[in-house]
Amino acid sequence: MMSSENLEKAQAEGKYIRKIRSFVKREGRLTKGQAAALERSWPKMGLTHDQGMLDLEQVFERQAPTVLEIGFGMGKSLVAMAQAAPEKNFIGIEVHRPGVGACLMDAEDAGLENLRVFEHDAVEVLEDCIADGSLATVQVFFPDPWHKKRHHKRRLIQPEFVELLRRKLAIGGVLHLATDWENYAEHMLEVMNAARCWRNLSANNTYIPRPAERPLTKFEQRGERLGHGVWDMKFERVE
Ligand SMILES: C[S@@+](CC[C@H](N)C(=O)[O-])C[C@H]1O[C@@H](n2cnc3c(N)ncnc32)[C@H](O)[C@@H]1O
Repeated sequence: MMSSENLEKAQAEGKYIRKIRSFVKREGRLTKGQAAALERSWPKMGLTHDQGMLDLEQVFERQAPTVLEIGFGMGKSLVAMAQAAPEKNFIGIEVHRPGVGACLMDAEDAGLENLRVFEHDAVEVLEDCIADGSLATVQVFFPDPWHKKRHHKRRLIQPEFVELLRRKLAIGGVLHLATDWENYAEHMLEVMNAARCWRNLSANNTYIPRPAERPLTKFEQRGERLGHGVWDMKFERVE
């Protein structure tokens, strides 16, 4: 993955470079409820890439540990986690607009004060809007597995990306990954084992049992019934 700065430089030099992205922007239609929630709650809960570097204390009007979730989908687990931990700040990033709308609908129902969201590419948000050392936790739950080998380069969890995440976490901060695709779980472990300055929080340097704070979604419950596996991993930034 190339940083946006390097990409711009390459483009300025007239090189043709196609940016490899971890997502394909789907033109999903908004439901009426999602559109209404976006209209009502975006001014309070929406953050934009154009705003540039965030001052988290100003955004949340308090000092508190901040949890960042990347690719929150429809926001079910993000809203449940924010509701269960009012003492923490939560920021969600998702590119899929109907997902952002759905998340805001649930956040309104739950009366959340501690959640903000971006509708933008997480790589650019991390680079341009999140200060180094400012996050307590980063969570990436069920990122797109990109099953085909020739698409593996699109997987979000890659050496350059996890180094970006390490910089954004405070020392002692934790990266929590979960996937239901065994080959991606193995790929995640491989990337994290090769990365510097992380400590795997599992007893045997592999996976951990599902932590209680990660809500069990309908999707996962269905998978469980069908006998599918889920792999959770946690890594602490040690340096
Ligand atoms: C397979 S879904 C999982 C959604 C959710 N975490 C869940 O567990 O149901 C992966 C999500 O990540 C989002 N995504 C992928 N790459 C992203 C990126 N670079 N920035 C923000 N969101 C991204 C996709 O739009 C998609 O909604």
